[in-house]
Amino acid sequence: MTAILRLEGVSKSFGALKVIDDLSFSLRRGEALGVIGPNGAGKSTMFNLITGGLTPGAGRILFDERDITRLTPPARCRLGIGRSYQIPQPFGGMTVFENVLVGATFGSGKPERQCHESCIAVLETTGLLGKANRLAGTLTLLERKRLELARALSIGPKVLLLDEIAGGLTEGECQALVETIRTIHGNGVSLIWIEHVVHALLAAVSRLVVINFGALLAEGEPQAVMNDPRVQSVYMGIDEDAA
Ligand SMILES: Nc1ncnc2c1ncn2[C@@H]1O[C@H](COP(=O)(O)OP(=O)(O)O)[C@@H](O)[C@H]1O
Ligand SMILES: [Mg+2]
Repeated sequence: MTAILRLEGVSKSFGALKVIDDLSFSLRRGEALGVIGPNGAGKSTMFNLITGGLTPGAGRILFDERDITRLTPPARCRLGIGRSYQIPQPFGGMTVFENVLVGATFGSGKPERQCHESCIAVLETTGLLGKANRLAGTLTLLERKRLELARALSIGPKVLLLDEIAGGLTEGECQALVETIRTIHGNGVSLIWIEHVVHALLAAVSRLVVINFGALLAEGEPQAVMNDPRVQSVYMGIDEDAA
């Protein structure tokens, strides 16, 4: 299977602190890839490097075999890289529909009129159609998480990057969100999901990457990775479900 996204020897430092350290891995076309690692391991920074908010000090990032390392964030978005934020970032004073419309228009470059239908489809997929006219600032945590997902989907992504979208939800809410993510993946979107709620992650991904101190600690079939003694020693006491 070919890679739709590839990191090659990527490093990033903030001053003297090396946060990403010679990191290489691939996302295969059509794959759902899980990423785990302790707090501060550099996972969100890795997403910021992929989406262009940050530029690596070394290494390359390839999307569809094209080097995107120096492209602007909007250019990467229009190529089809969508993301959600660990802390939801909605436009609180706009409605749910308007939030999604912003992503659909600016993310695709199409005129607003042509985007209404796709916005409705996105709201339907993410379970927010009934909340379309609510102000985003009044949503519950689960609804805000769903809106993060909807905004990321609104650009029509080929690759979806999800940053700890299940954190803070009840078990039932978490399961419902996993179902939504599985549906999105089933519709052909390749995705990378960073998640501490490991049992949720394992219900949706077929391969795992473990990042520790900004470097690749392990990768492979999820159960084998979770049973790896190096991974267990890093994870002991962090996630009860995984232990
Ligand atoms: N813009 C920044 N400036 C300085 N340090 C940063 C910046 N962003 C992240 N860091 C540091 O980089 C490390 C990794 O952060 P992060 O990527 O958020 O980790 P994770 O998502 O794995 O918890 C942390 O020590 C964090 O404080
Ligand atoms: Mg993070």
